[in-house]
Order: sequence, then C-alpha cells, then structure tokens
Amino acid sequence: MKYDRIPKELYIRNREKFKALMDKSALAVFNSNDIYPISADSTMPFQQHRDILHLSGVDQEESILVIFPEASNPAHREVLFLRETNEHIAVWEGEKLTKEAAFEVSGIKTVYWLNQFDSIFKQLMAEASSVYLNTNEHLRANTEVETREDRFIKRVKENYPVHPTRKSAPLMHRIRSVKEREELDLMQRACNITEAGFRRLLGFIQPGVWEYEIEAELAHEFLRNRSKGFAYTPIVASGKNACVLHYIENNQQCKDGDVILLDVGAEYANYSSDLTRCVPVNGRFTPRQKEVYNAVLHVKKEAEKLLVPGTIMSEYHKQVGLLMEEQLLKLKLIDKTDIANQRAEWPAYKKYFMHGTSHFLGLDTHDVGLWNEPIQAGMVFTCEPGIYIPEEGLGIRIEDDLVVQEQGAPFNLMGNIPIEAEEIEALMNA
Ligand code: GLY
Ligand code: MN
Ligand code: MN
Repeated sequence: MKYDRIPKELYIRNREKFKALMDKSALAVFNSNDIYPISADSTMPFQQHRDILHLSGVDQEESILVIFPEASNPAHREVLFLRETNEHIAVWEGEKLTKEAAFEVSGIKTVYWLNQFDSIFKQLMAEASSVYLNTNEHLRANTEVETREDRFIKRVKENYPVHPTRKSAPLMHRIRSVKEREELDLMQRACNITEAGFRRLLGFIQPGVWEYEIEAELAHEFLRNRSKGFAYTPIVASGKNACVLHYIENNQQCKDGDVILLDVGAEYANYSSDLTRCVPVNGRFTPRQKEVYNAVLHVKKEAEKLLVPGTIMSEYHKQVGLLMEEQLLKLKLIDKTDIANQRAEWPAYKKYFMHGTSHFLGLDTHDVGLWNEPIQAGMVFTCEPGIYIPEEGLGIRIEDDLVVQEQGAPFNLMGNIPIEAEEIEALMNA
C-alpha cells in the first residue's frame, strides 16, 4: 500500500455498527474483489471491494470476512480468511498479510488461511439462523461481470438451500453514509492532493497544450503524494468537449480563447475526492465566459447552503433547479415562454443543466448512501452545478466536496482550492 497505516479502531467501530443492525443469530460474509484479467497474463491493478475494506481495512485479494456475533465459540464471532503466505511464498508473490499483520490492520484476532474456509464455514452455518449476503444495489451500477461475491452467493444458495438470506447492502449503505472522523481526515488528505495537482496546472496551462499533458501533470502530482492516482477516469475537456458530460478521451489540443473543464480528483487510501474547476486556456476569461462562470458559481454557493441536517435530497434537487432557472433567464439562455411550456418531468433548465447536483462521496466516488432519508451531520456530498452551451463551445461545471455539519453551513473539504474567476486568472498570470 502507498498510504499510511489507518488505525484499526476505525474498523472495529465499523463492525460494531454493522453488528448492531444485524438480525439475531445471523452471520454475514464479505468477499474481496477479483483481480480482473486483460488478456495473456496481464491483469488490471487490484481494487478492493469497498465493503470488506470498510469493515476490516484488509486491502488484499482473495480475502473473506465473516461476522457472526452470536457464534458459540467467541473466537468465531469475527473471522478473516486470507490467502496463505510465509517467507517462501513471499519471495514469489511479494508481501501479503501475515496473521499478525492482519490483526494489526483489522483488529480481528481469528485469522485462518483460505483453504480452511469450507470446513469452518460449514460449522458456522450449522449454528446460524440466517446469512447476510452482499449484492451491489447501487442504483447506477450497470455491469455484466460476475464478481467474486456473486459467485460466492451462488455457492451459498446451492450448498445451504434452506438458510434464509438477508441483504447486507441496506446496512452497508446506512453505515457508510455517515463518515467517522478518521474517514473525514483521509478524504481531506485526498482533497489536499487534488489541490496540489490543480495548483500545479495553473502555471502550466497555456495555448497549444494538449489535454493529455494536463492529465500527465496531475498524475505526477498525485503519485508523488502517496495516491494510487485518479479516483475516477479524469475529464480534461477543452472548448466544446466540456459539453460532453462523460468526455474522457483527453486527446485534443487546447486553443487560445477556450475554457478547459477539469473534473479530476485524487484518491487517497481508497477514498475519493471529486473536483471540477474550469480555467481559461490563455489565462483570461472573456466577459461572456465569466458571466456564465459566475452564474454557475452563484448556484453552487446557494445550493451548498442547503446541505444541512434534515434536507431531503429530492427536494434539494428541485430547489437547485429553481436557482439554475433564475440564472439561465439572466443569461438569456431560456425565457419565460420556455418555462411556461415546460414539462414537469423535464423542466426548461435541463436543456443546459441536465445532471444531478450532488452525490454521496466516500470510498466510492458515487458513494452508497441513504438517498431517501433526511441528511445528517457527517455525510459527505459533492455540489456540482453546471451550464453547458454547445452552440458557444462552452461548458462550465464547478464542484466541491462538502461535509454536512451539526450546525450551520457544510464544511468544505476543498475550501482551499481556488474558485473565484479572478483568483484563477491571477494565479495563471503570476
Ligand atoms: N467525476 C464524477 C462526478 O462528478 O460525479
Ligand atoms: Mn461528482
Ligand atoms: Mn466530478
């Protein structure tokens, strides 16, 4: 791992929260992700499944966590199964967690090698009245790949056909949506690394630079600060490319007079940061670009004030729509007739602002969370309004990461990252 050791108390607390939500005499299982193949003997870099990570800190493939609070054998109330390692295996496969190291990471005392899983799991299942299985219930999840967890679920259903099953996902969404202090510190660190990357760019961007050169500067700055790299595929979109919401080619030359939209964030210790800033290629916004920029910034500043305990996210999104409508009228992009003729399900403002304003942020960039309950202190959201005008070759989005506080306005984890148009211009011309 590139990141500094995270105190195991975080994971001990996270497991206690999960246990408090479990049914009586139930057992829960969490699997690592697979290492995904490319072809021949190449693989994608490993990315741990966020749930086993959240509950144990184990950032290693082929690991299994079992939580069984009422196991008759106290040693079996929390168990980790890991890929076997020893000094000889380490020569070939590199350093893997020993049983002692796994305890130091997770606080779990009982650690077995993976080849013992089937026999021990059989004993545990004989005692358990139901089993929690972990399906991916993120509303935007859309994948055809069968995960290690999916295969495990099939095996359990085949081998233990009369055990009632329960869903872990709602429990995980609940406990992951409110962040612990340690998690906020890790997210702050990810945001600080992103800040360093962004500041580096302000002295680098000039007419003629290529989008991929900008991406390379960021990658360099992120890696030298102990990040694995980008938290999500970066968007470096100059001119009209900024109007393609999922533009990730980053292969065009940046032209004098254009604005570049940068939706780029570093990860740190598997936590995401998620930033968007827009900068003029030549260091000065035109009056029209600044007008649109300031309209988006106004919506962002007003919207984030609504991220307070008790807010319902569906209502919040409606409120932000009204804020945006007001700005689009001022910019003369829509008029009163457009609003009079709008359909409830597709208001006029959506012609220029067609995505949501906020999402949960955490171990996943579009993190899991409680979308249908009033928001609470300790939740982290992005706030990212935008205006996209393809006919002007201009797209502006501004995005920060905010922690809901008990009292008052949210805490901005990106509060140190330049955001005012004049500040960005001054730094680009320093
Ligand atoms: N970078 C992805 C998003 O802003 O949601
Ligand atoms: Mn975002
Ligand atoms: Mn983003």
